[in-house]
Amino acid sequence: MKKTAIGVFDSGYGGLTVLKEIVKQLPDYDYIYLGDNARAPYGPRSFETVYQYTLQCVEWFFAQGCELVILACNTASAKALRNIQQKDLPKLDAHKRVLGVIRPSTEIIGNFSTTGAIGILGTTGTVLSDSYPIEIHKFFPNSKVYQQACPMWVPLIENAEYNSPGANYFVKKYLDQLMGQSADIDTILLACTHYPLLIEKIKQQLPAGIQVVSQGEIVAKSLVQYLDNHPDMSKMCSKTGSIQFFTTDSTSDFDNHASLFFGRELRSEHIFL
Ligand code: DGL
Repeated sequence: MKKTAIGVFDSGYGGLTVLKEIVKQLPDYDYIYLGDNARAPYGPRSFETVYQYTLQCVEWFFAQGCELVILACNTASAKALRNIQQKDLPKLDAHKRVLGVIRPSTEIIGNFSTTGAIGILGTTGTVLSDSYPIEIHKFFPNSKVYQQACPMWVPLIENAEYNSPGANYFVKKYLDQLMGQSADIDTILLACTHYPLLIEKIKQQLPAGIQVVSQGEIVAKSLVQYLDNHPDMSKMCSKTGSIQFFTTDSTSDFDNHASLFFGRELRSEHIFL
């Protein structure tokens, strides 16, 4: 049996915020990260486009031999995961697994809130899919979920403008729109893997007492649990502690930006899809 790395995918850099937490909790495993930077952002794209792009990336991971792929992207998890799991996996390889970031987040987010009023900040695609309200209500039927799309945040982050005065304007704009929906919101989930880079600005703009939750640690804990519950999958995964990074766009751009998301210098390789 050939053992292989765990695949971690995002449209761009955001998934690195998740990979960083996964590596903290599961340092022995090997990982392959792919950022589809050439086609990012995914947030404003149609359901069909996000599905086709994500499927292509998943097939690339499978061609590298990955048995387990994490979609560390909410937009891809919202728009492509179900189709891939239900339609494509049985045809491609019924033993392989593709997991997303929405389920692990929605099954615990209600525990953070005392009022039951939860705010979701995400890309336009994630918000329009209604995946968060639908899933949160399954686990926390009495909760009230308020959503706000933040279409300017990913471009600000991808262009390293998240510390600029322009970023202050757009952080305040979307937070005001979210908080204007209910005075009861006491918990806000950053439902886009790029947004942790804005977390300090977001906290500064919010009244005290509102919790801002990012997904990296939640997804990492859930993967630990998943591998504990699926020892066969864990056995298929190689464990030499290596990480390889791939991008569909410029490697120098990727390497220059990626350390901000991942917390250390890295070297990527280029692939065409
Ligand atoms: N990081 C991705 C997410 O979690 C989306 C960024 C994009 O729009 O490509 O939704």
